[in-house]
Formats: sequence, structure tokens, C-alpha cells
Amino acid sequence: MGDDLASVMLTEAQIQDRLRELAAEIDADYAGQDLLLVGVLKGAVMVMADLARALHHPAEMDWMAVSSYGSGTKSSGVVRILKDLDRDITGRNVLIVEDIVDSGLTLSWLQSNLRSRGPASVSICTLLRKPAAAKVEVEVRYVGFDIDPEFVVGYGLDYAEKYRNLPFVGTLAPHVYS
Ligand code: XMP
Ligand code: MG
Repeated sequence: MGDDLASVMLTEAQIQDRLRELAAEIDADYAGQDLLLVGVLKGAVMVMADLARALHHPAEMDWMAVSSYGSGTKSSGVVRILKDLDRDITGRNVLIVEDIVDSGLTLSWLQSNLRSRGPASVSICTLLRKPAAAKVEVEVRYVGFDIDPEFVVGYGLDYAEKYRNLPFVGTLAPHVYS
């Protein structure tokens, strides 16, 4: 694995510290209110697991799987639901939990899809955001880190399904994908 990674961008400790801060904000913002965390498979598995355990709120969890990328490194803008939510979200406070907002196309689509189902609210929490790569405006309420528009892997993020199990976020050496 060593040769495939160019650098460590965020260490395990930096990620965990930031998730604890975000969890404290979420606890305060949703205190006494209903909260349903919606994780976006598969990338958000690690963020969800660690964020949810840092929360004191008795939040529920559900999952969606959407596809927008194929196995490459560019967003197609075409989103397909591979797995939908198990339960109805009418009247609920939904917090989408994501690994990364890149072009914003996936989340913008997902947010309007969920809003059309009559929830009380839909907000977004993402570990990473690439502001320079934005193609559409998406309001993200909780952002772990704004990063440069490089392709990153680890902590749930994959390149062709690999590297998701790294406990940190790193950049991929160009030879891996070129
Ligand atoms: P968009 O462009 O629609 O992309 O905001 C969102 C989804 O694309 C994937 N993505 C990445 N995956 N490293 C990855 O491993 C990256 O740098 C990267 N950028 C985008 C990711 O699945 C995200 O949910
Ligand atoms: Mg994702």
C-alpha cells in the first residue's frame, strides 16, 4: 500500500478530534429534538460510526446507497439509488452524513430527493469538502475539513473500492490512477 499513497493529509487523531467537535455542535443544535442520521454508503461508513459514537443524542441511523461515480475519479452528475431508506421520513429531522462533497452534484440531488418526502428538515454533515471543485451550491451545515481539490482516499473513501479501510485520509500517487 505504501507506494500508492503520496501523503497523509489528515491523521487519525485529527479526524477523531474534529468529529468530536462536530458531534458537540450537533448535540447542541438537536437537543430535545428528533434526529435521524442518514449515512451514504459506502464512503460514509467510517464517519457515521465515529460521529454517531461521539454523539450523546439518541439519534437513529438509516442508510442509502447512491451511485454517481462508477469506478473513476470524476463525478458524472447522474445519480442512481442503489439502496433506499428503510423507513419513511415524513416529519423527521434528517441529517445526511457524508464522507466528501466534491462537485456537490450527488448531495444536491440527494438533498432535494429527501426534501420531496416531507421531512421536518434536511441538513448535511460531511467530513471533507473541496470548495474549489464545487459545480453546484449545496448548503452544508457541518464540515469537518475544507481541502484542496485533490483525489483523496482512506477513512471510507476509495479508489476502485480500495483504501477505504485506512484509518487516515491520504492523497493517492498519480501513477495509481493515470
Ligand atoms: P460529488 O462530486 O457529486 O461527489 O460531490 C460525491 C461523491 O464522489 C466521491 N468522491 C471521492 N471519492 N476521493 C474518493 O475516494 C475523492 O477525492 C472523491 N471526491 C468525490 C465520493 O463517493 C462522494 O460521496
Ligand atoms: Mg460518498
